[in-house]
Amino acid sequence: MKLNSIRSAILGIGMAVPSKILTNFDLEKMVETSDEWIIERTGIKERRILEDGENISKYAIEASLEALEKAKVSPKEINLIICATLTPDYLIPSLSVLVQNGIKAINAGAFDLSATCSGFIYALAMADQFIKNNPNWKILIVGAEALSRKTNWKDRTTCILFGDGAGAVVMGKSSEPEKRGIIDFILGADGSQWQLLTLKGGGSCYPPFDKRLPEDEYYIKMQGREVFKAATKMVEKTSLELLKRNNLTTKDIKLLVPHQANLRIIEYLRERLNLPKDKVYVNIHKYGNTSAASIPLALYEAEKDGKLKAGDLILLVAFGGGFTFGGALLHW
Ligand code: COA
Repeated sequence: MKLNSIRSAILGIGMAVPSKILTNFDLEKMVETSDEWIIERTGIKERRILEDGENISKYAIEASLEALEKAKVSPKEINLIICATLTPDYLIPSLSVLVQNGIKAINAGAFDLSATCSGFIYALAMADQFIKNNPNWKILIVGAEALSRKTNWKDRTTCILFGDGAGAVVMGKSSEPEKRGIIDFILGADGSQWQLLTLKGGGSCYPPFDKRLPEDEYYIKMQGREVFKAATKMVEKTSLELLKRNNLTTKDIKLLVPHQANLRIIEYLRERLNLPKDKVYVNIHKYGNTSAASIPLALYEAEKDGKLKAGDLILLVAFGGGFTFGGALLHW
């Protein structure tokens, strides 16, 4: 196990999701699908969706304030805010700046991080490096998504999958480095398959309202079956490599907290790692795929459900459009 004398740790966690629930039965009225099909193929029963006029920054701020309170850190003590998101309120300003203003973190720098569904793990890895170099820093990481705003509600192959929400953690130097904090992480990407999962419209290639692009390209498009195949390979390889290079086996893991994209992908990974069901945290049935928010939402609820105790060894693993992928090993 690679342990630096300074380790970064999660000091507090918060979450906030819209109260509006969109069930599979609601979707049955919108596209040709069924509750049974969605549950069988994805494990999702319902997802949270922003009301018209609401913005995800509201939930990012709410989750951040809870994380700060739990960490017993004041907004003024925050040195840096990293928001992992692919659906910020605006392109300018960034979501992180809206959070900075919303929580009054007057001494913090702020930037958004774009690594699709792996964004939270990328942000954890960045915060870890900052804290190793600046051990007194406190860093706020937010994973927040408003995927409902980029979902094509006429496309049954994607609209059943996504949801909105925000999770936040405050990171700082571990006060018990032998027992708590980040151990190691892997960050990866495979741009050779970028065409399998896209949101082309609205970027600088096809600016908003560019007539060259069909309307459905202004929403998330995906070749689900191909993404599924790639995802299973990425999460298995990342998990095994992280364990191996830290001389750990799956038996050492207290809890696997994977990105919640599809229950079948999670089940595939659980079987490959030979883990019992109670060592894998799942809350996809309630929230669907919330991209960069999914791991902090799962961590939050795992702790609330009593599945995560101080010092437990946990494995986080994620993949997303691009492709990007990543994993992190840590003592909770
Ligand atoms: N309701 C009913 N039928 C549907 C449907 C829906 N919502 N969506 C697709 N179908 C149909 C298809 O049209 C297809 O019909 P056909 O056989 O007549 O052509 C059939 O169901 C099977 O489609 P397929 O795409 O092979 O299903 P699948 O088992 O691969 O499940 C996904 C589709 C999207 C759920 C699955 O591929 C998936 O989860 N992929 C990974 C997605 C992912 O994780 N993305 C996020 C990355 S972060």
